[in-house]
Amino acid sequence: MPGMVPWTWWTHSEVGHSQEAKRESQQLFGNDAAFSTPKPERLIQRILHIATNPGDLVLDSFLGSGTTAAVAHKMGRRYIGIEMGEHAVTHCVPRLRKVIEGEQGGISQAVAWQGGGGFRFFRLGAPIFDAEGRINPDIRFADLAAHVWFSETRTALHRKPRQPLLGVHAGTAFYLLYNGILGDKRPAGGNVLTARVLAALPPHDGPRVIYGEASRIGPARLKDLGIVFKQTPYDVKAR
Ligand SMILES: C[S@@+](CC[C@H](N)C(=O)[O-])C[C@H]1O[C@@H](n2cnc3c(N)ncnc32)[C@H](O)[C@@H]1O
Repeated sequence: MPGMVPWTWWTHSEVGHSQEAKRESQQLFGNDAAFSTPKPERLIQRILHIATNPGDLVLDSFLGSGTTAAVAHKMGRRYIGIEMGEHAVTHCVPRLRKVIEGEQGGISQAVAWQGGGGFRFFRLGAPIFDAEGRINPDIRFADLAAHVWFSETRTALHRKPRQPLLGVHAGTAFYLLYNGILGDKRPAGGNVLTARVLAALPPHDGPRVIYGEASRIGPARLKDLGIVFKQTPYDVKAR
């Protein structure tokens, strides 16, 4: 009707209720609930049904006990869950493992869930930048190296680098001079690209990108050597 605000009413017979959610939680975790206000899987199913299609990416940045991820998984959606509490490990991971094994609670029967699929679990590293965009002075070499590598190559650095050469990607070698990685712990020592530092770097036959606090080698010489110098922190991209 003209002027009528659209409204909707979801009954508990369609989308479940708090008691149902508590029962689901109890079936999964016994009396060790992650928190006291879980949602029933049917409620999240309704929301995902309206808002997404199979294969879409669902983000729950407050994952709690993992209901959204579990439902997204059973509904054939991809998902990212973020959780700062230990229940990420004690509740969300075991719950998703059970889902993969074919757990039959919640919406499983309604969607004929048989199990399958997978997920990856990551721990966030230390923040690279402070609120003003400066590099966090406590950041360790390995964490900054992982960030630089990812921002350059869009791939994960799987090992902890113990030397300035982080690796070679598509023919280009990436180096990071930071935190006295060359053994010189003075504030700028070893973090400045000099001829001596360059000679000490592991060689690479091809283009090189070197991150450091400053370069004492001039632009023309760098060009001749096939080196792109990038200055920390200014050239370390936040994304
Ligand atoms: C009430 S639960 C929400 C659960 C779930 N999204 C649901 O609808 O059932 C909120 C969760 O957010 C987590 N949390 C709060 N602040 C957070 C943050 N800044 N980063 C990650 N998780 C956070 C809490 O630890 C808690 O587990």
